[in-house]
Amino acid sequence: NTERQLNNIKVTITAGPTREAIDPVRYISNHSSGKMGFALAAQAAAMGAEVTLISGPVQLATPAGVTRIDVTSAQQMYDAAMAQAVQSDIFIGCAAVADYRVAQIADEKMKKQGDSALELKLVQNPDIIASVAALSQNRPFTVGFAAETQNILQYAQDKLNRKKLDLICANDVSAQHLGFNSDDNAVTLLWQHGQHSLPVQSKTALASAILLQIKQLFSAK
Ligand code: C5P
Repeated sequence: NTERQLNNIKVTITAGPTREAIDPVRYISNHSSGKMGFALAAQAAAMGAEVTLISGPVQLATPAGVTRIDVTSAQQMYDAAMAQAVQSDIFIGCAAVADYRVAQIADEKMKKQGDSALELKLVQNPDIIASVAALSQNRPFTVGFAAETQNILQYAQDKLNRKKLDLICANDVSAQHLGFNSDDNAVTLLWQHGQHSLPVQSKTALASAILLQIKQLFSAK
């Protein structure tokens, strides 16, 4: 029974990929579908939360009762996330944010240069969730995701500590039919004093289970 569990709680969620422009017609991105973040937003709203969903470019309908902010680049997602985070009780970073962007976006479509190779200089994007977790004032309860293909729990634990998160959802993306683009997923939740494995299930059911664990830890804080 999850109804009203998140009454009067403000939740901000990032979802989907970011898109980093190379020139007016090209970009660097990834295969994130946004499904997990959208499922979290839908379930959080169904549990009574006031939900803001900051979404990269995805092919998904806005869940009922959710306020959606559409962004394209990591920098735009960062700006929207920092503005929302300080007004939120819980922040969930589910987006697959590009770690790098092109240093200089070309003003015009780039032309092929004879037979020579092309070098693109990339610079790092800000780490959104680490910036939220580092807020000294109005810091929300901060939840991240770790999509890994090996040493899953160890890498997730490292991320929990390094980014100073309250909870991390460790996601094995090497498993076929799970994670990216799938409707099903399985995660292990890790926090400072515990862990809890959630078996393969629909992203909707998983979202409810994750939100119940978040609620429990958030209320205990
Ligand atoms: O380090 P990694 O990208 O694997 O960490 C994943 C977690 O960090 C996710 O919660 C993701 O949304 C968040 N993240 C972020 N900003 C970045 C990179 C990752 O918020 N620039």
